[in-house]
Amino acid sequence: MKQLLAATVLVSGLSFAGGFELKGDAAKGEAHYKTLCVSCHGEKGEGNGAAAAALTPKPANFTDAKRAAEIDDEYVYTIIKEGGAAKGKSPLMVAWKGSLKEQELRDVTAYVRAFAKAAPAAAAPAKDAKDTKAAPAKDAKPAPAPAKDAKKK
Ligand code: HEC
Repeated sequence: MKQLLAATVLVSGLSFAGGFELKGDAAKGEAHYKTLCVSCHGEKGEGNGAAAAALTPKPANFTDAKRAAEIDDEYVYTIIKEGGAAKGKSPLMVAWKGSLKEQELRDVTAYVRAFAKAAPAAAAPAKDAKDTKAAPAKDAKPAPAPAKDAKKK
Protein backbone atom coordinates (compact mmCIF):
# COMPACT_ATOMS: atom_id res chain seq x y z
CA MET A 1 0.00 0.00 0.00
CA LYS A 2 2.79 2.37 0.86
CA GLN A 3 4.44 1.55 -2.44
CA LEU A 4 1.26 2.27 -4.32
CA LEU A 5 1.04 5.62 -2.59
CA ALA A 6 4.62 6.44 -3.49
CA ALA A 7 3.99 5.48 -7.11
CA THR A 8 0.97 7.76 -7.22
CA VAL A 9 2.99 10.66 -5.88
CA LEU A 10 5.73 9.95 -8.40
CA VAL A 11 3.30 9.82 -11.30
CA SER A 12 1.69 13.10 -10.36
CA GLY A 13 5.16 14.56 -10.12
CA LEU A 14 5.95 13.36 -13.62
CA SER A 15 2.91 15.05 -15.04
CA PHE A 16 4.77 18.31 -14.38
CA ALA A 17 7.37 17.19 -16.86
CA GLY A 18 6.16 19.81 -19.33
CA GLY A 19 7.55 22.51 -17.05
CA PHE A 20 4.25 23.51 -15.50
CA GLU A 21 3.97 23.06 -11.76
CA LEU A 22 0.48 23.44 -10.38
CA LYS A 23 1.38 23.96 -6.73
CA GLY A 24 -2.30 24.01 -5.83
CA ASP A 25 -3.95 23.04 -2.56
CA ALA A 26 -7.20 21.22 -3.25
CA ALA A 27 -8.40 21.71 0.33
CA LYS A 28 -8.12 25.47 -0.05
CA GLY A 29 -9.68 25.37 -3.51
CA GLU A 30 -12.84 23.73 -2.24
CA ALA A 31 -14.41 26.92 -0.86
CA HIS A 32 -13.87 28.78 -4.12
CA TYR A 33 -15.30 25.89 -6.09
CA LYS A 34 -18.39 25.81 -3.90
CA THR A 35 -18.93 29.54 -4.31
CA LEU A 36 -18.16 29.97 -8.00
CA CYS A 37 -18.43 26.68 -9.85
CA VAL A 38 -21.12 24.52 -8.23
CA SER A 39 -24.03 26.25 -10.01
CA CYS A 40 -22.82 24.77 -13.30
CA HIS A 41 -20.42 21.93 -12.54
CA GLY A 42 -22.32 20.55 -9.56
CA GLU A 43 -21.39 19.79 -5.98
CA LYS A 44 -19.67 16.56 -6.98
CA GLY A 45 -18.15 17.90 -10.19
CA GLU A 46 -20.46 15.85 -12.41
CA GLY A 47 -21.43 18.78 -14.60
CA ASN A 48 -25.01 18.77 -13.34
CA GLY A 49 -25.33 21.97 -11.32
CA ALA A 50 -28.63 23.84 -11.13
CA ALA A 51 -27.80 26.01 -14.15
CA ALA A 52 -26.50 23.13 -16.26
CA ALA A 53 -29.83 22.14 -17.79
CA ALA A 54 -30.12 25.49 -19.55
CA LEU A 55 -26.62 25.35 -21.02
CA THR A 56 -25.29 24.06 -24.33
CA PRO A 57 -22.68 22.73 -24.32
CA LYS A 58 -23.06 21.19 -20.90
CA PRO A 59 -20.58 22.09 -18.17
CA ALA A 60 -17.70 19.64 -18.00
CA ASN A 61 -17.99 16.52 -15.87
CA PHE A 62 -14.81 16.47 -13.77
CA THR A 63 -15.37 12.90 -12.58
CA ASP A 64 -14.90 11.57 -16.13
CA ALA A 65 -11.58 9.73 -15.75
CA LYS A 66 -11.17 9.32 -19.50
CA ARG A 67 -11.43 13.06 -20.06
CA ALA A 68 -9.19 13.79 -17.07
CA ALA A 69 -6.52 11.57 -18.60
CA GLU A 70 -6.68 13.46 -21.89
CA ILE A 71 -6.05 16.83 -20.30
CA ASP A 72 -3.42 18.01 -17.84
CA ASP A 73 -3.05 20.41 -14.94
CA GLU A 74 -1.86 23.20 -17.18
CA TYR A 75 -4.89 22.92 -19.47
CA VAL A 76 -7.30 22.99 -16.54
CA TYR A 77 -5.50 25.88 -14.87
CA THR A 78 -5.46 27.88 -18.13
CA ILE A 79 -9.12 27.33 -18.93
CA ILE A 80 -10.11 28.38 -15.40
CA LYS A 81 -7.90 31.44 -15.57
CA GLU A 82 -8.54 32.54 -19.16
CA GLY A 83 -11.94 31.00 -19.88
CA GLY A 84 -13.18 28.32 -22.28
CA ALA A 85 -12.62 30.43 -25.38
CA ALA A 86 -8.88 30.51 -24.69
CA LYS A 87 -8.80 26.74 -25.27
CA GLY A 88 -11.29 26.51 -28.12
CA LYS A 89 -14.15 25.75 -25.72
CA SER A 90 -17.41 27.53 -25.02
CA PRO A 91 -17.28 31.09 -23.65
CA LEU A 92 -20.05 30.00 -21.26
CA MET A 93 -17.08 28.87 -19.23
CA VAL A 94 -15.89 32.35 -18.32
CA ALA A 95 -12.44 33.50 -17.25
CA TRP A 96 -11.98 33.55 -13.49
CA LYS A 97 -8.77 35.53 -13.29
CA GLY A 98 -10.77 38.61 -12.31
CA SER A 99 -12.37 36.84 -9.34
CA LEU A 100 -9.56 34.61 -8.11
CA LYS A 101 -5.98 35.43 -7.22
CA GLU A 102 -3.12 33.49 -8.80
CA GLN A 103 -2.81 31.03 -5.89
CA GLU A 104 -6.59 30.65 -5.66
CA LEU A 105 -6.70 29.70 -9.36
CA ARG A 106 -4.12 27.01 -8.64
CA ASP A 107 -5.97 25.76 -5.56
CA VAL A 108 -9.29 25.46 -7.38
CA THR A 109 -7.52 23.68 -10.25
CA ALA A 110 -6.18 21.12 -7.77
CA TYR A 111 -9.69 20.67 -6.38
CA VAL A 112 -11.15 20.12 -9.87
CA ARG A 113 -8.42 17.60 -10.72
CA ALA A 114 -9.14 15.68 -7.52
CA PHE A 115 -12.67 14.79 -8.67
CA ALA A 116 -11.33 12.42 -11.31
CA LYS A 117 -8.78 10.93 -8.92
CA ALA A 118 -11.50 10.18 -6.39
CA ALA A 119 -13.71 8.51 -9.02
CA PRO A 120 -13.06 4.90 -10.02
CA ALA A 121 -10.43 5.47 -12.68
CA ALA A 122 -11.04 3.06 -15.53
CA ALA A 123 -8.76 4.83 -17.98
CA ALA A 124 -6.11 5.83 -15.48
CA PRO A 125 -3.54 3.00 -15.63
CA ALA A 126 -2.90 3.41 -19.36
CA LYS A 127 -2.31 7.11 -18.91
CA ASP A 128 0.10 6.59 -16.03
CA ALA A 129 2.13 4.22 -18.13
CA LYS A 130 2.46 6.87 -20.80
CA ASP A 131 3.52 9.50 -18.30
CA THR A 132 6.33 7.36 -16.99
CA LYS A 133 7.72 7.15 -20.48
CA ALA A 134 7.76 10.93 -20.73
CA ALA A 135 10.91 11.35 -18.62
CA PRO A 136 13.42 8.63 -19.48
CA ALA A 137 16.41 10.95 -19.27
CA LYS A 138 16.32 10.87 -15.48
CA ASP A 139 17.61 7.29 -15.36
CA ALA A 140 20.47 7.90 -17.73
CA LYS A 141 23.73 8.11 -15.80
CA PRO A 142 26.56 10.33 -16.96
CA ALA A 143 29.10 8.19 -18.79
CA PRO A 144 32.13 7.31 -16.65
CA ALA A 145 35.47 8.65 -17.80
CA PRO A 146 38.02 5.84 -17.36
CA ALA A 147 40.44 7.38 -19.83
CA LYS A 148 41.73 9.78 -17.15
CA ASP A 149 43.04 7.05 -14.82
CA ALA A 150 44.53 5.19 -17.72
CA LYS A 151 46.64 8.19 -18.64
CA LYS A 152 48.02 8.71 -15.11
CA LYS A 153 49.98 5.48 -15.10
C1 HEC B 1 -22.06 29.45 -16.11
C2 HEC B 1 -21.71 28.07 -15.90
C3 HEC B 1 -20.27 27.77 -15.47
C4 HEC B 1 -19.62 28.14 -14.33
C5 HEC B 1 -20.15 29.00 -13.19
C6 HEC B 1 -18.31 27.53 -14.38
N1 HEC B 1 -18.18 26.80 -15.53
FE1 HEC B 1 -16.59 25.66 -16.06
N2 HEC B 1 -17.50 25.16 -17.79
C7 HEC B 1 -18.78 25.55 -18.14
C8 HEC B 1 -19.11 24.96 -19.44
C9 HEC B 1 -20.43 25.13 -20.19
C10 HEC B 1 -17.98 24.22 -19.84
C11 HEC B 1 -17.83 23.38 -21.11
C12 HEC B 1 -17.31 24.20 -22.25
C13 HEC B 1 -17.22 23.39 -23.52
O1 HEC B 1 -17.33 22.15 -23.47
O2 HEC B 1 -17.03 24.01 -24.59
C14 HEC B 1 -16.99 24.37 -18.79
C15 HEC B 1 -15.72 23.81 -18.82
C16 HEC B 1 -14.84 23.86 -17.78
C17 HEC B 1 -13.54 23.22 -17.79
C18 HEC B 1 -12.92 22.45 -18.94
C19 HEC B 1 -13.02 20.99 -18.75
C20 HEC B 1 -12.62 20.20 -19.95
O3 HEC B 1 -12.59 18.97 -19.82
O4 HEC B 1 -12.33 20.76 -21.01
C21 HEC B 1 -12.98 23.46 -16.57
C22 HEC B 1 -11.63 22.97 -16.08
C23 HEC B 1 -13.91 24.26 -15.81
N3 HEC B 1 -15.02 24.48 -16.58
C24 HEC B 1 -13.69 24.70 -14.52
C25 HEC B 1 -14.52 25.58 -13.84
C26 HEC B 1 -14.23 26.13 -12.54
C27 HEC B 1 -13.04 25.77 -11.69
C28 HEC B 1 -15.23 26.99 -12.24
C29 HEC B 1 -15.36 27.88 -11.02
C30 HEC B 1 -14.23 28.74 -10.73
C31 HEC B 1 -16.17 26.95 -13.34
N4 HEC B 1 -15.71 26.09 -14.30
C32 HEC B 1 -17.36 27.66 -13.39
C33 HEC B 1 -19.65 26.32 -17.42
C34 HEC B 1 -19.35 26.92 -16.21
